[in-house]
Amino acid sequence: MLSRSQVITCKGAICWGIGEGVKVEEIQVEPPKASEVRVKMLCASLCHTDILRTQGVPFSMFPLAPGHEGVGVVESIGEKVTNLKEGDIVIPTYIGECGECENCVSEETNMCMRYHLPVNGLMPDGTSRISVRGQKVCHVFNCSTWCEYMVSDENYLMKVDPSIDLAHASFISCGFSTGFGAAWKTAQVQSGSSLVVFSLGAVGLGAISGAKMMGATKIIGIDINEKKKKKGEAFGMTHFINPKDYSHKPSSQLVKDLTSGLGVDYSFECAGVASLLNQALESTKVGKGKAIAIGVGTEELVKINWFGLFGRTLKGSIFGGLKPKSDLSFLAAKCKNKDLPLDELQTHEIPLTEISKAFELSKQEGCIKVIIKM
Ligand SMILES: NC(=O)c1ccc[n+]([C@@H]2O[C@H](COP(=O)([O-])OP(=O)(O)OC[C@H]3O[C@@H](n4cnc5c(N)ncnc54)[C@H](O)[C@@H]3O)[C@@H](O)[C@H]2O)c1
Ligand SMILES: [Zn+2]
Ligand SMILES: [Zn+2]
Repeated sequence: MLSRSQVITCKGAICWGIGEGVKVEEIQVEPPKASEVRVKMLCASLCHTDILRTQGVPFSMFPLAPGHEGVGVVESIGEKVTNLKEGDIVIPTYIGECGECENCVSEETNMCMRYHLPVNGLMPDGTSRISVRGQKVCHVFNCSTWCEYMVSDENYLMKVDPSIDLAHASFISCGFSTGFGAAWKTAQVQSGSSLVVFSLGAVGLGAISGAKMMGATKIIGIDINEKKKKKGEAFGMTHFINPKDYSHKPSSQLVKDLTSGLGVDYSFECAGVASLLNQALESTKVGKGKAIAIGVGTEELVKINWFGLFGRTLKGSIFGGLKPKSDLSFLAAKCKNKDLPLDELQTHEIPLTEISKAFELSKQEGCIKVIIKM
């Protein structure tokens, strides 16, 4: 029988350096401190950001225990934890919500100033709860979901209904919610409007789904992978463009061709390809189009065309502008009630012991999400 004060030795995926992929290692997971919670992971999934983090983008810190999408059960809690108890089913959120700071009371942003996006790979007190052969291990943001156990601060965990589909719960802990929220909260898509989503991974499909909920009538999806057409349609896409079929025309022009030359009301860049940001901007209506930048790329700097900005807005979005307590619970309820076709995202499944295959699987044409079973 485990005691809440014991160190747990278990398996976890570790990346030792840039481009080295991940290896399953025996890790030690310390008990939670006062405001922390130790979670026994049940299942996790792969978001493109995990791949970037193992490439040292945008932060280089190793050894790293990746994984920020997942769902687990609370194993033990610190003495000051008030909102969670042992046995609760939780998902990690990489932004918290204190409900009181300038940003939490604002309708404009989800970027809580007290429980902000952690970028140093450590717990809020500047230490780590995971080690491998005596060496401290960093998190991706505030968690490491590709481990059998992980510790997170209670302010970065959200309780979900225990009857929720575990894979679906994992998907809403980052990628899908990010896109969904970008349409719902960041862009606040208007009913009857038009938009284009560049890149149809889980993030882009989420944006399509959020736009459909908001009542958009023309939802264009763009991807260089033809297999994404069916996936986009399953979430509400009305038109698909594969730029490879039109090598002589920029995507922004192809979007204008579908909108009587005017362009769309909103665009969403979900690939993390710098040049697509200009395409996203220029595919919106002159004078009032809004382009939302969601993707994260390997280039540190992005060049924006002056002309593309003519009266248009370019806005960044983190976690889709969703406040974890106020907004994510709405999506979790939709997910629990099976209101969204989230099964469409689940294309591959592997046990944690085969995690080293996950990145290769994610490159397969038919892949949207790789589920990692603990
Ligand atoms: N801002 C945030 O809060 C946030 C959160 C999650 C993910 N992200 C970022 O969002 C991006 C997407 O993540 P994902 O998990 O959906 O990725 P993914 O790897 O599952 O999907 C990427 C898709 O982009 C397509 N693509 C690649 N190059 C393209 C091009 N030139 N034109 C059109 N399509 C192209 C691919 O075919 C693929 O379908 C990543 O950059 C990720 O780091 C940002
Ligand atoms: Zn706050
Ligand atoms: Zn993510």
